[in-house]
Amino acid sequence: MDQPTPRYRLGIIGTGVMGRALLNAGIRGGVVAASDVIASDVSEACRLEAEETGCIATEDNREVVEQSQAVLVAVKPQAIRAVLGDLRDAFGEGQLLISIAAGVPLQTLREAAGPAPNLVRVMPNVCCTVGEAASAWASEGRLPEQQRQFVADLLSAAGQAVEVKEELIDAVTGLSGSGPAFVAMFIEAMADGGVRAGLSRDQAQMLAAQTTLGAAKLILQDEQDPASLKDRVCSPAGTTIAGVHALERGGLRAAVMDAVVAAADRARELGG
Ligand SMILES: NC(=O)c1ccc[n+]([C@@H]2O[C@H](COP(=O)([O-])OP(=O)(O)OC[C@H]3O[C@@H](n4cnc5c(N)ncnc54)[C@H](OP(=O)(O)O)[C@@H]3O)[C@@H](O)[C@H]2O)c1
Repeated sequence: MDQPTPRYRLGIIGTGVMGRALLNAGIRGGVVAASDVIASDVSEACRLEAEETGCIATEDNREVVEQSQAVLVAVKPQAIRAVLGDLRDAFGEGQLLISIAAGVPLQTLREAAGPAPNLVRVMPNVCCTVGEAASAWASEGRLPEQQRQFVADLLSAAGQAVEVKEELIDAVTGLSGSGPAFVAMFIEAMADGGVRAGLSRDQAQMLAAQTTLGAAKLILQDEQDPASLKDRVCSPAGTTIAGVHALERGGLRAAVMDAVVAAADRARELGG
């Protein structure tokens, strides 16, 4: 006899910072209705916050797996093996299991979760909490189209997402995973420059952050390449080209490339 279709479209195990961010994004983006979601967490405070969205919250991770079509696991990387290991006999054949645990490969997820579920590994970033995540995801083998679409829709509701081969996840970790820290340093340095040129700290920080946001939007929305945007803003013998020259003298590009590569190398090293 066929198994009955589970009641909830999405189950979430771990409703901390990232679990809740994806839950809120999924609801806001119309990917799931709150009434289609069941979530579990060991922390009562996190369960209560999840319930505020209108979803069902429980202490029981097994209930989440048994009652959901797709399961998103958003616990810390140190906890994920034990959490999945406890649930391995609960996963249905072909059930979608999505992990966002940083640095935990598909092979480890498979060993812990057993043979039944279809696996997806996601590398989101902290910007998920403001709906501007840059995420990449990899699956083990080809997913059924409906599941592929669900993953893409959920991650896109929280920002932008690309599908990559798993061997590129370390590169993603170095770029968009660590990138918010690099961009924060750039904004801080721009603001310091503004203060040095006479602006107040508050004004300089707002102008630096908003300039970064606006430039990123121009590149993403107009599909402009960054070099063209730079060229458009540099008039002959003008102010901007003088600043660009100073950045080149300071080795900005090489420093940023080195940072991404160093972070990707470290991710590879930590992943063993
Ligand atoms: N934060 C980021 O910027 C970021 C970026 C990329 C990837 N990630 C990944 O996202 C995942 C979640 O990170 P986070 O920052 O959201 O962590 P978090 O805020 O600590 O959330 C994890 C939640 O899971 C709960 N939990 C722990 N053990 C559990 C269990 N056995 N069953 C059910 N719930 C359990 C935790 O409760 P307690 O706190 O009471 O233990 C906590 O509420 C991590 O794997 C991380 O690698 C995070």
